[in-house]
Amino acid sequence: MKWKAQLNGMKPYQPGRSVDDVKKMFGLTEIVKLASNENPFGASPKVHKFIEQLSINHAIYPDGYASGLRQALAESVGIEENQLLFGNGSDEIISIISRALLQPGVNTVMATPSFSQYRHNALIEGAEVREIPLINGSHDLQEMHSQIDENTAVVWLCSPNNPTGTLIEQKQLDEFIQKVPQEVLIVLDEAYFEYINDPSYKNSIDFIKKHGNVLVMRTFSKAYGLAGFRVGYAIGQKDLICRLDPVRAPFNNTVISQDVAKVALQDTVFLEQCREKNEIGKKQFNDFATDNRLHIYPTQGNFVLLEVKVDSDYVFEELMKKGYIIRSGNALGTPGYIRVTIGTQSQNEDFLHKLSDVLNHAGVFA
Ligand SMILES: Cc1ncc(COP(=O)(O)O)c(C=O)c1O
Repeated sequence: MKWKAQLNGMKPYQPGRSVDDVKKMFGLTEIVKLASNENPFGASPKVHKFIEQLSINHAIYPDGYASGLRQALAESVGIEENQLLFGNGSDEIISIISRALLQPGVNTVMATPSFSQYRHNALIEGAEVREIPLINGSHDLQEMHSQIDENTAVVWLCSPNNPTGTLIEQKQLDEFIQKVPQEVLIVLDEAYFEYINDPSYKNSIDFIKKHGNVLVMRTFSKAYGLAGFRVGYAIGQKDLICRLDPVRAPFNNTVISQDVAKVALQDTVFLEQCREKNEIGKKQFNDFATDNRLHIYPTQGNFVLLEVKVDSDYVFEELMKKGYIIRSGNALGTPGYIRVTIGTQSQNEDFLHKLSDVLNHAGVFA
C-alpha cells in the first residue's frame, strides 16, 4: 500500500502500563496509577449523580456543535461561543492543528522535552520539527524565536510544561507573542491551567483578544477528572476557529461527554477543593526533595518531576513491584528523574515512603 513515507518506523503512543497489567504481573491487589496526571480525586460528585440518573437515546448522533457545553463554557471563560473548538481530548485538537497547517516543506517549533504529541503529529504530516532544549525546565523563548523562519507554520508552547511543570513567565510570553510573525500560529497548551497558583500569572485569554494567531488549548481531562470522556477545547479568535473547524470530525464529542463536561464545569467548589489538595500534595513532594537533597522542578501542575540520582527505569520497575505506576524520565527525555502525578495525601505519603525504600536500597542516600 502507498503509506506516507514518514510513517515508516513510527510507533503508536506508549501509554503508561495499565493497572490490570501490573496487578497480573506482580500478583498485587492494590495499584495506584500516578502516571498520566489524572485527577486522583476523580470528578465532581455532581458528575457521578448525573451519570447514575442518565437516560439518553443512543441511536441518535450527538450535537456536532456541542451547543450546550459551548454556551456554558463561553460564559465561564468570558468569550463568544464562536471562539471555541472542541476536540476528542486536546489530543485531537493537536491533530486538527497539524492536519490544517503542517505539511512537507513547512516547519514547526517546539520545546524539548515537552508534550510528545506535538512532535508525533507534526511528523505524520511530514513537517520538519525544530526542537529547542529547555533551560532549567523552562522554554527557551529566545532560541525558539530565532528558529522561526518564513517556512514556520506552528509554534507550540506548553505552560505548565509537561513533564517539568514549569510555567512560562508572563512578561517573556507577552514579548514572545508580540515578536512572532502574525502568519505563524502560536499554540499555548494549558492542559493544567486550573492548577496554576502563581500570582503573577495573568489570564491568557487576553492574548487572544489582541492576537489573531494565538490559540489556547485546555481540557476536561485533568483538574475536572474526566480523562475517560475525552473532551478538550481550543480558544481563539473567531476567524482562526473558522479555519480549523472543517478539519474536525463532525461528531467528535459523544452525547454523554458533552453533558458530563457541562455538569463538571459548574461545580467550582469541587475544583477549588482539588486545587487545595494538590497544593498539600505538592508540599509533600517538595519537602521530600528538600529533606533528601533531590532536585525537583517547581511545578504549577498536578505532577512533579523529581530527581532520583539513579537509573529512572530501575526506580520505575521497583515502584511498580510495590504497587505504584509512575513515568520513568528515560521515556520522557529526562533521565535521572521520574514524573509522578500528585495523588491524595495518603497516596503521596505511602508513595514517598516506598520511594525512599527504593532509593535507600539503590544506595542513593549512602
Ligand atoms: C500538556 C498536555 N497537553 C495535552 C494533553 C492531552 O490531554 P487530553 O487529550 O486528555 O485532553 C496532555 C495529557 O497528558 C498534556 O499533558
